[in-house]
Amino acid sequence: MTTTVLVTGATGGIGGHLLTALGDRDVTVRALVRDPARLARSGVEVARGDLRDPSAVAPALRGVDAVFLNSPSAPDAAATQIAVADAAAAAGVSRLVLLSQFAARADSPVRFLRWHAEVEQHVRDLGIGHVVLRPNLFLQGLLAFAPLVAATGRFGAPIGGAAVSAVDVRDIADAAAAVLTGAGPDGAVHDLTGPRAVTHPEIAAALTGATGHPVSFDDLTPQAFATALHGVLPPWQAAGLVEDYAHYARGEAARVDDAVVVLTGHPARTLEEFAHDHAAAFAPAG
Ligand SMILES: NC(=O)c1ccc[n+]([C@@H]2O[C@H](COP(=O)([O-])OP(=O)(O)OC[C@H]3O[C@@H](n4cnc5c(N)ncnc54)[C@H](OP(=O)(O)O)[C@@H]3O)[C@@H](O)[C@H]2O)c1
Repeated sequence: MTTTVLVTGATGGIGGHLLTALGDRDVTVRALVRDPARLARSGVEVARGDLRDPSAVAPALRGVDAVFLNSPSAPDAAATQIAVADAAAAAGVSRLVLLSQFAARADSPVRFLRWHAEVEQHVRDLGIGHVVLRPNLFLQGLLAFAPLVAATGRFGAPIGGAAVSAVDVRDIADAAAAVLTGAGPDGAVHDLTGPRAVTHPEIAAALTGATGHPVSFDDLTPQAFATALHGVLPPWQAAGLVEDYAHYARGEAARVDDAVVVLTGHPARTLEEFAHDHAAAFAPAG
């Protein structure tokens, strides 16, 4: 019997790569999407609907064996994900794969880590078969700096010389594909990191090497970072990002884990590979 996997967040940064990774496996893939036109990929069953809409989620879960649960950070993210987890348990899903975050903790000063910890605890209490993936800072998150880097050759953040074991989202997707198709035991929590911890000056050096144009990093104060984000992000998201960066600056996200290689069978991608593959986004126009 072929396994059916439901992917949420299928048009997102992880989701797109996850559909590709699952395409190599003997599974039926269903994607829950708000706008099917955004799903460029064929060969995937499409369930149309909003994650916040129980009347769309329940039918999408029919006949599903494993679910990848991911949604963007938002003030209601924990409530949304908890409702989907409840629906998955009610539908008899055997394995729920929850996308959380490195260092998720109920008492964290970082709001995103508290939201993820709340969902993790709920899923544990539900008794459903589950696996938690806790990726560290996404290397692809650096793409948010790309227009600035391309225009000025500089980017800044409040992190000083602290190192972070940032991970490539392609490795998160590969690890998710493995656990959705049975890898590892139920109840496992996997920290997904890159192969080493990197500093932001090292990121600037990698972008310099990949683009052939000098890129430099400015260590900002948290206040200057918050000011730069003002009007660019909603206030809750800007404040959350400042909290994230304070956590990185304290050195709390530097540990390297071998879960990517254990789950996927290939080494975690390096900062240099990321910089090479995305050089065009960071290079000056023309
Ligand atoms: N950025 C980091 O460094 C980092 C590190 C660790 C963990 N995380 C976690 O990663 C998660 C985000 O993952 P990501 O970057 O892959 O997300 P993403 O690229 O922002 O994609 C979000 C996906 O969710 C879908 N979506 C949004 N609202 C929806 C709704 N109401 N109903 C149905 N679908 C909806 C979007 O679809 P549409 O096409 O409809 O918009 C999109 O496919 C967050 O939980 C974050 O905390 C991030």
